[in-house]
Amino acid sequence: MTEPLLIVKNLCLDIRKDGRAIPILRDVGFELKPGERKGIAGESGAGKSMTMHCLTALIPRNICDIRGEILFRDGDGRYTDALKLPWPERQRFCAGKISLILQDSINALNPFIRIETQWAETARLHRPDMDKAKVREHLLRTMDAFGIPGGVETLRKYPHQLSGGMRQRIAIGMALESDAPILIADEPTTSLDTINQRKVVEFIEALCAARGLSMLYITHNLGIVQAICDSAIVMKDGRIVEQGATRDLFASPADPYTRQLIEGTRGLRR
Ligand SMILES: Nc1ncnc2c1ncn2[C@@H]1O[C@H](COP(=O)(O)OP(=O)(O)OP(=O)(O)O)[C@@H](O)[C@H]1O
Ligand SMILES: [Mg+2]
Repeated sequence: MTEPLLIVKNLCLDIRKDGRAIPILRDVGFELKPGERKGIAGESGAGKSMTMHCLTALIPRNICDIRGEILFRDGDGRYTDALKLPWPERQRFCAGKISLILQDSINALNPFIRIETQWAETARLHRPDMDKAKVREHLLRTMDAFGIPGGVETLRKYPHQLSGGMRQRIAIGMALESDAPILIADEPTTSLDTINQRKVVEFIEALCAARGLSMLYITHNLGIVQAICDSAIVMKDGRIVEQGATRDLFASPADPYTRQLIEGTRGLRR
């Protein structure tokens, strides 16, 4: 059996505020296998993004207390606990394991800079040996692979000259320059219209399949989880209330809260 790429054990997070420690996450635990697509669902404030912040070490460390284990599998099959690494190293290590797409990734594009200039800068961070012509070739190839039309003409444009869906695809392309084996998408389609939402979800799904990426897809929308995820986690008040294969979870949810969420989705679909 294939060993998990990521094992999270007893993850607890407190945020210190006014001399108090506010509990945010409690005993969060799950595994992510190579190529697995796992959804993380739950209502607003459940702790989905905070879990992602712990995994990516993007949390403001001076106000946080994180406990537990976040184990990433190395190439040689051994596991490294990211929480045991000192800070700057932890961030670098996690960035090599996880690429991140956020709700506002679109806004990560600088409106005053042409697409090619900003994308090339990101590409060079990870491929410092490439000259300008090679980088352009690489961008055009990536655009082809990602179904981003327009070639050099698109590269010459500014973000506002492209549709939201196209900008999100480019932002995803930039996020994936790192070649990390795990992709975390945190509500990546919320700021898009329905048609573009669907296109971007399909795009992310195809991308994971083509690159053999493992994915954590964070969303309120259980419909998306059902459509594209093999397994799912349901969170509430900083805890996991239920997790398992998506099929089982939808067929026979054990927890009343999961049942309520699924009913809510059905209500919306009608
Ligand atoms: N800087 C902070 N200081 C104190 N509490 C915070 C801070 N940031 C987030 N929280 C709290 O952490 C909890 C979990 O928030 P989180 O952003 O992970 O929720 P979420 O599940 O991603 O919700 P949403 O679906 O709205 O994005 C919430 O109760 C939130 O109020
Ligand atoms: Mg969130």
